[in-house]
Amino acid sequence: MDNFINIALPKGRLGDKVYAALKQAGYPCEALEDPGRKLIFENPEAGVRYFWVKPSDVAIYVERGAADLGVAGKDILLEYAPDVYELLDLGLGKCRMAVAAPKGFRDDTRRTLKVATKFPHIAGSYYTSLGRDIDIIKLNGSIEIAPILGLSDVIVDIVETGSTLRENNLEVVETVVPISARLIANTAQFKFKNQKILAIRNSLAKILG
Ligand code: PRP
Repeated sequence: MDNFINIALPKGRLGDKVYAALKQAGYPCEALEDPGRKLIFENPEAGVRYFWVKPSDVAIYVERGAADLGVAGKDILLEYAPDVYELLDLGLGKCRMAVAAPKGFRDDTRRTLKVATKFPHIAGSYYTSLGRDIDIIKLNGSIEIAPILGLSDVIVDIVETGSTLRENNLEVVETVVPISARLIANTAQFKFKNQKILAIRNSLAKILG
């Protein structure tokens, strides 16, 4: 795909913020600001082509070279370990991966701990590092319900404001890892389009730094 730098943006609030920074950095795209149902937009003068994709799919587009650059949460990078370069911590979309449980929960270490999560790899490595025996229950959303219904003892999930936990009478037991959005690059394209990719990375660093 040509001389353009192809950039996968995560659809939603984070993507909007990232695009605002890219625009300020000298990579605007007028078409993207009045998108309708279109998903691909380009600005030949600035040499960029943007795609909106599902946030959890960005790393797949970048790993397979359908996008040269993308923005993905550290949670996705830790969970799926895609073969991409992480170029910059954008400092946006800050939250944390945490263990949470019903208020007053006490871990009985004689029993296997039941852990519900969308992130089995992150949860698994965390408890392995503690030497704690667990049973992982992989769910796809609304994780907070699991301990309330007795499906699990605890959850490992993203906590941003903490209001989802509060409203469901859960509390953070432990932080697993801080999370934020990262600029990622396809490894082959990083070599072929090195100067252009670094120019984008550096101007974003200046604006967000
Ligand atoms: C995430 C996460 C929590 C919530 C945390 O869910 O899984 O449920 O946000 O945010 P808070 O601390 O600000 O309340 P998301 O909105 O991505 O939905 P999902 O559970 O359907 O994936």
